[in-house]
Amino acid sequence: MTAEWNREDLARLLALEDFSEIYAQADEVQRREKRDVVQIRAILEFSNCCRRRCRYCGLNAENPRVTRYRMSVQEMKEAAAEALEAGYRTIVLQSGEDPGFPAEDIGEVIRFIKQKGAAVTVSCGEWPSEVYAYWRDCGADRYLLKQETADPALYGSLHPCGTLAERVGCLRELKRLGYETGSGFMIGLPGQTLDTIAQDLLLLAEIPCDMAGIGPFLPHPDTPLRDCPEGGSELTMRAVALARLLLPQCNLPATTSLGVLSGGARRSVFSCGANVIMRKVTPEPYKSYYEIYPANLGRTEVRRERAELEDWIRSMGKTPV
Ligand code: 5AD
Repeated sequence: MTAEWNREDLARLLALEDFSEIYAQADEVQRREKRDVVQIRAILEFSNCCRRRCRYCGLNAENPRVTRYRMSVQEMKEAAAEALEAGYRTIVLQSGEDPGFPAEDIGEVIRFIKQKGAAVTVSCGEWPSEVYAYWRDCGADRYLLKQETADPALYGSLHPCGTLAERVGCLRELKRLGYETGSGFMIGLPGQTLDTIAQDLLLLAEIPCDMAGIGPFLPHPDTPLRDCPEGGSELTMRAVALARLLLPQCNLPATTSLGVLSGGARRSVFSCGANVIMRKVTPEPYKSYYEIYPANLGRTEVRRERAELEDWIRSMGKTPV
């Protein structure tokens, strides 16, 4: 039945007074497709320099209050090696869209991680096809590039530096190159409606995405959207549940932003569709400079944080991998 859902149906479902039946269905599909396994991934935020001016993001190029950094290749290899020793099997290499960071340096780190037998996800924004192809040749398995919103007008008003068509073009190119392709969007952007979220879900299915990060918008005080209200965790979880029904095999993280909104929310998100969780392994002081939205992050302690996360996942009756 899910395959036939259209925009109106999805918007109507998102607005249901009682969503419990959909949550139960999403949970059932997740158990069937993902066998109660929760994948833990390490994120290494290796540069916070960004040429974009996304109006919601704390790292946008126009925010002068950010201490900008670029990690060296050596620092990146050390941080990745530490994460692998702690048990992580996937490293996500994430940065702002940083033309000052050589693609070859990223390639070298990709090869280093692949030699150690782990999977690599790259999340560095929009680049020409040749750059994506080069990283793929270096061994990158996956690429994350969120659509942010599937409404072209809303996309345009939030992104002075790009269009939705360009973004979708990149997603299609990544698919063509054989990447496991991840997208995703924010809940609660100013001007967004339930119909927008329905469009967002349908775009995930149209690509079709192998991963989708759906998280609440959280206002950052140093951005033009500082006074806008944050997105809701309930609506976020509803969107995750519908994504699970539309794309049964998709990897759906319980996003960090959802965890920021409410520590308890992540517990329930694993029972309404999500099957992935990410942990920052970015060393200090860099981690504190990578502030996309306000978050009270503790010090990075790779081993201890990984062990605690595994215990917490087991306490929910799931298997951490
Ligand atoms: N609130 C929530 N999520 C945000 N992102 C960027 N800024 C914010 C914000 N203020 C998300 C976007 C982006 C990812 C790196 O973080 O979805 O793709």
